[in-house]
Amino acid sequence: MSRVALVTGGTRGIGGAISKALHAAGYKVAATYGGNVEAAEKFHAETGIATFQWDVGDYDACVAGAAKVEAELGPVDILVANAGITRDGLFHKMTKEQWSQVIRINLDGLFNITRPLIEGMRNRNFGRIIVISSINGHKGQFGQVNYSAAKAGDIGFVKALAQESASKGITVNAITPGYIATEMVQAIPEDVLKAKILPHIPVGRLGQPEEIARTVQFLASDEAAFITGSTLAINGGQYMF
Ligand code: CAA
Repeated sequence: MSRVALVTGGTRGIGGAISKALHAAGYKVAATYGGNVEAAEKFHAETGIATFQWDVGDYDACVAGAAKVEAELGPVDILVANAGITRDGLFHKMTKEQWSQVIRINLDGLFNITRPLIEGMRNRNFGRIIVISSINGHKGQFGQVNYSAAKAGDIGFVKALAQESASKGITVNAITPGYIATEMVQAIPEDVLKAKILPHIPVGRLGQPEEIARTVQFLASDEAAFITGSTLAINGGQYMF
């Protein structure tokens, strides 16, 4: 029987590409979304992938949402924690709201969705948790103190949870995408993208969402059982560590 994969923020951008790749590979996929109903309906109509709306920043909504997905599709064996937002701004002008919104969705959201699913994975002695962090969690990014802090937090989360989960057949890994051609990157002012970002990508272009999705598909597979606690950088050579 095919395994169930839950992808948060799974109807657009990198998450949309991940949902499609896992679906094409034969998984039953649940793609969650926060607010963009129109995009989610279009995604469902085009792909046939089941979509579920809830706020990953809300723990109770995650508990209820995870239970609904499991009731409709079956136990979730693969979690792709991808949902994320940016609220860019220079730190000396950053509001508490900009800070809190990013931490709430990008970091609290990771706890909120992983916690309700991990006990089932432990009981079944199998799980794949794949966290979509960011290049900016490694190197920091001008204008993103909030986002860089949250994305660095993702990496610590992965390393600690990987240790706790290894004996239960659960792998926990992070992917740190660089600048990928999505709406999030298109929102960067064009002059900043051209002058400050593109020149630092040795491959000479933005990445494509499918280039992240392929790696997720591999990490989700049985063959990737010995990879845990890792952080895989997919950034066109922009930052090497
Ligand atoms: N490095 C160095 N200097 C920079 C810079 C950078 N990356 N970006 C801007 N600056 C400089 C500007 O040149 C400017 O300098 P001068 O005053 O000498 O001209 C100064 O900083 C202020 O810049 P702005 O006029 O742009 O200031 P602002 O307050 O209007 O906006 C900003 C600041 C919000 C940081 C804006 O520059 C911005 O949006 N930058 C992009 C931030 C970014 O890369 N976000 C990534 C989004 S994609 C993503 O997050 C996905 C992922 O995981 C990779």
